[in-house]
Amino acid sequence: MFGPTRYIAWAMQFYGQVPYDLATSGVPLVKWSELGLPVPDIDDFGAYAALRGAIARHNDVPKAEVVPALGTSQALFLAYASVLSPGDELLVESPGYEPLTRAAEGLGATVRTFERRAEEGYRVVPERVAAAIGPRTRAIVVTSLHNPTGARVEDDTVRELAAIAEARGAYVIVDEVYAPFDDLPEDGVFRRSARKIARNVIAVSSLTKCYGLGMYRVGWVLGAEEIAERAEAAALATFGHLPLAHASYGSAVLGAVGPLAARAKALLAGKREIAERWVASLPNAQWSAPRDGLFGLVTLPGRGDLLRSIEARARESGVLVGAGSFFGAPESFRLSWASCDAARFAEGLRLLEPLVAG
Ligand SMILES: Cc1ncc(COP(=O)(O)O)c(C=O)c1O
Repeated sequence: MFGPTRYIAWAMQFYGQVPYDLATSGVPLVKWSELGLPVPDIDDFGAYAALRGAIARHNDVPKAEVVPALGTSQALFLAYASVLSPGDELLVESPGYEPLTRAAEGLGATVRTFERRAEEGYRVVPERVAAAIGPRTRAIVVTSLHNPTGARVEDDTVRELAAIAEARGAYVIVDEVYAPFDDLPEDGVFRRSARKIARNVIAVSSLTKCYGLGMYRVGWVLGAEEIAERAEAAALATFGHLPLAHASYGSAVLGAVGPLAARAKALLAGKREIAERWVASLPNAQWSAPRDGLFGLVTLPGRGDLLRSIEARARESGVLVGAGSFFGAPESFRLSWASCDAARFAEGLRLLEPLVAG
């Protein structure tokens, strides 16, 4: 059975409801009318094959390794369904994005965690993963960039994780929905999918975070052919097929990724640096120091769970940050520069100071 995902319930209550949104983790939504695309034929059955082809081209992988999905969320479900049976075990990073755990539990798996530690820059340390892996572990799961710290999982690390997993006949699942942020592809092709690193790496992603296309729910699983076949079987058994309109609009918007990459770069320019300067000015605050992306994690050691104070700031001053509590980091908050322009972001940081002062 699927338990409630507390973080998403909380996010739906607050995100987008405040004037100073320093919590939302994707670039602002783009409207269809802004894309300048011809309206697709939503009765064309060829759209299914076209979407698969467009996803394969976008990720520079063979079509046979692609399974379209409704956002990264459903891609994750399909990836899990392709490797997990009840009683299996999954190794997930901590702190972590809660749905990574809930989706696995819902499929009857047991979730165990390995730490990504502040003093190690929130790197994934393969030795720690190797120490935690067991005979029933079917997959190791990481996000890159890491939600909530923004730390990248380097390719060499994924390679090491893949070798650790391979020795157990297991997989590595990389949620790479934030991965393109270090070099958003203005030619529309993301060439660095973790899928290409090793045979047993499965990548999941979507157009949600980098391109402002979250409501189109264009997501995918990329995996070796046996994974693609099993993910396809899970799809057929649980929803049959996706709406034809999803496929038609999906392949159309994939054609707009290049200009949307340029848009995202312009929207984000200079704001990470504002965040960094602000955190450096705070006494007693630690910072995850992401190199790119649109958020980082601020930790206030010794302050206990910040959830109620974060909610109070949202109500009293209209400034919201992501509560670390939902990621297993209660003394922290995720600070995002995705939504506000630079001036509004700076003002939001000023309004946040009472939270930091305690
Ligand atoms: C790591 C991670 N994966 C997946 C998602 C969900 O992505 P989508 O909206 O494409 O389903 C999120 C959203 O916050 C996320 O942070």
